[in-house]
Amino acid sequence: MSGALTRRTLIGAAPAALALGACSREAESREPADLRAASTPGAARPTTLKAAAPFPVGAAIRTDRLDDPAYAGLVARQFDQVTADWEMKMEIVLAADGRLDWTRPDRIAAFARDNGLRLFGHTLIWYAQDPPAFAPLIGDRAAFEAEFRRYIVQVAGRYAGQAVGWDVVNEAVDDDGVRLRGGYFLQGLGLDYIPLAFRIAKEADPGAILFLNDYNLEQPTKRATFLRLAERLLRDGVPLGGLGTQSHLSLEQDPAAIGPAMRELASLGLPIHVSEVDVTLQRGRLDPRPERDLVRVQERLFGALAEAFHALPERQRFAFTAWGVRDQDSWLRKPSESGFGRTDRPLLFDDEGRPKSTFDAVVNAWS
Ligand code: G3I
Repeated sequence: MSGALTRRTLIGAAPAALALGACSREAESREPADLRAASTPGAARPTTLKAAAPFPVGAAIRTDRLDDPAYAGLVARQFDQVTADWEMKMEIVLAADGRLDWTRPDRIAAFARDNGLRLFGHTLIWYAQDPPAFAPLIGDRAAFEAEFRRYIVQVAGRYAGQAVGWDVVNEAVDDDGVRLRGGYFLQGLGLDYIPLAFRIAKEADPGAILFLNDYNLEQPTKRATFLRLAERLLRDGVPLGGLGTQSHLSLEQDPAAIGPAMRELASLGLPIHVSEVDVTLQRGRLDPRPERDLVRVQERLFGALAEAFHALPERQRFAFTAWGVRDQDSWLRKPSESGFGRTDRPLLFDDEGRPKSTFDAVVNAWS
């Protein structure tokens, strides 16, 4: 595939006429009682996210929290899908000598299984991982492709039959919103790494829905490039099964732009995963707004995103996933990760696991 994707490189790809069945293996397995509680007029107000939503609600989880019964119980009570925050990625699975360490991924998968939760795989191929096992293979395409294939087959194959889907390629579009990203996989295989990853993942787990996942898709330019890439993959017969919009929102995001962005992402007819939502309260040092005003903005953003997702056709509502459980579990609390402070409160539950006003905003949007 060539570098910058433009309309010129795309034969007019008609939006894929996709026979979309249920978004996932278990979409039908939701408890009818939960749905009745959410939808019957005058019924008691849903006290859990999964009771409020007519689609799966997920959370990113971490094994270092699973021994805390309060955390584990909150996940099992509120959500019906889990994603590994980081422990199903190359950085923890693939050692420099090529060995694969299943300890933490298996712990995540076992927690999902033991609690009747859907497991969503994140992520097979991500430019940001730069695994040492691939570095010496750059320049030897055959060897690189063999390791690329081995990794995907081993990881996606291990959870075949349990994982409802995978982020096969994560963050393929550059931050400039125009070009596709560099990194080891582009160096090793050229842009073919993207379709190849999907084809291998489909061989490894034919039943999983395979996603292209990215962030800042609220930005028109990046969204357009992301959709052109998706159209190109569909046109080339690549088994792309869904689109993930991470939705790491900042207070500068215009809530009114979220609905149109969601509809545009859904225009190809594929299932949509709101895959990593959080809304940071961090703002510029000169921002004079009091904290309570920032929380109102945060509530509006969560509500707008929840409404936009809920408004999608049922067959396109794959899942709505929060990127963490309690505020204290968020990546945004790690200055090393995000550069933000330790005081951020970006999620739906506070440090003690109590639902916040952001939880109310989401439940209101779905009730
Ligand atoms: O727990 C270990 C600790 O024992 C060790 O001492 C320390 C230093 O090596 O690492 C700790 O693990 C870190 C882990 O977060 C838990 O804090 C990993 O190094 C670190 O890489 C990992 O960061 C994660 C990051 O992806 C990279 O995998 C974040 O938690 C996670 O929230 C973030 O998630 C990404 C999505 O995958 C893609 N979209 C953006 C999103 C936010 O960056």
